[in-house]
Amino acid sequence: MSVILGIESSCDETAAAVVVNGFDVRSSVVSSQHDLHAEYGGVVPEIASRAHVERILPVVRRALADAGVAYGDLDAVAVGHRPGLIGSLLVGLAGAKALAWSLGVPLIGVDHVHAHLYAGFLGEPEAIGSSFPAIGLVVSGGHTAIYRLEDPLAVVRMGTTIDDAIGEAYDKVASILGLGHPGGPLLDRLAQNGDPRAFEFPISRLGRDSLDFSFSGLKTSVLYTVRGTPDAPDRPGSGTPPLDLSETVVPNIAASFQRAAVGAVMLKLVRAIAAFPAQPRSLLVGGGVSANSFLRSELLRFGAERNLLVKLPRMAFCIDNAAMIAGLAHHRWVIGDADDLSLAAVPTTMCADSL
Ligand code: KG4
Ligand code: ZN
Repeated sequence: MSVILGIESSCDETAAAVVVNGFDVRSSVVSSQHDLHAEYGGVVPEIASRAHVERILPVVRRALADAGVAYGDLDAVAVGHRPGLIGSLLVGLAGAKALAWSLGVPLIGVDHVHAHLYAGFLGEPEAIGSSFPAIGLVVSGGHTAIYRLEDPLAVVRMGTTIDDAIGEAYDKVASILGLGHPGGPLLDRLAQNGDPRAFEFPISRLGRDSLDFSFSGLKTSVLYTVRGTPDAPDRPGSGTPPLDLSETVVPNIAASFQRAAVGAVMLKLVRAIAAFPAQPRSLLVGGGVSANSFLRSELLRFGAERNLLVKLPRMAFCIDNAAMIAGLAHHRWVIGDADDLSLAAVPTTMCADSL
């Protein structure tokens, strides 16, 4: 049996969790910094690192207390060490190293994106044996990518965004509409009362076989629709006036934007299944945008049509959390795999994508 403390600090959530045997979440504490970054309309790295320093120890203590676990009960300390904001990653990593060293237990570094793909297994031990090979989809504020997984730790990236992440597009569109930050949950709610066909926003396809994503054209299209465009020099009258953001127009934009953004994800999933070497048994989904109600229903429909088990994380495990870190770390722990104290924080995904 493993009792693992997970630590997560890659972006703007300071989180710690205790997970037993890779699926049994005994506690999961997330201290979000949204209030600190809201006035800037996005995460300010320096503010994030400083807040992690202040919060990490109280968050770890809370996670242990909630789980009823003492430091001496821990079998390993796991930490998300890549990818993320470097200053933020370093805080969690330093804390995890200090704890692992002082307790004399293994230190296990975990890839944050791979942990998002694992989040759907938390609380559900029975599903893991029958889920691989799997297709993976990570949709968050920092990532939009499709993966092929042979097991929870063998992850190969098939396609990724060439510009913005889908969550970033949600947040930027919300800010164009004068809504708060993060904008994803707000747009999700507004879209439920909007007409998804009210505006024709572009669904990016890229090349015919491409599994990559692009969201910047969609974002720009929303911007021009809302702000209006000037006349072309040779075509008087070709411009459009700014939109009057009335109570019906905003939900219509939200719903039409979602149709295009989620439509692009579904299109690439169809292509990815076609490019898969064997019929995948499941679709593993993770990241903040997997909390989106429209995307969730589209994914469930997609899975039902293709006989794929769709593993959607519970809402609490869609956003950044440490339970997914501790859960995935268990799979390294059972094979005796761990890191030493030279484990580095790696801000990019570059080295995270090979088998
Ligand atoms: O996974 P996450 O917490 O952080 C990263 O690793 O990036 O994802 C945060 C992103 C934000 O862009 C937020 O707007 C988006 O997830 N998000 C949503 C919803 N809930 C969170 N986007 C669409 N619909 C939602 N319900
Ligand atoms: Zn994340």
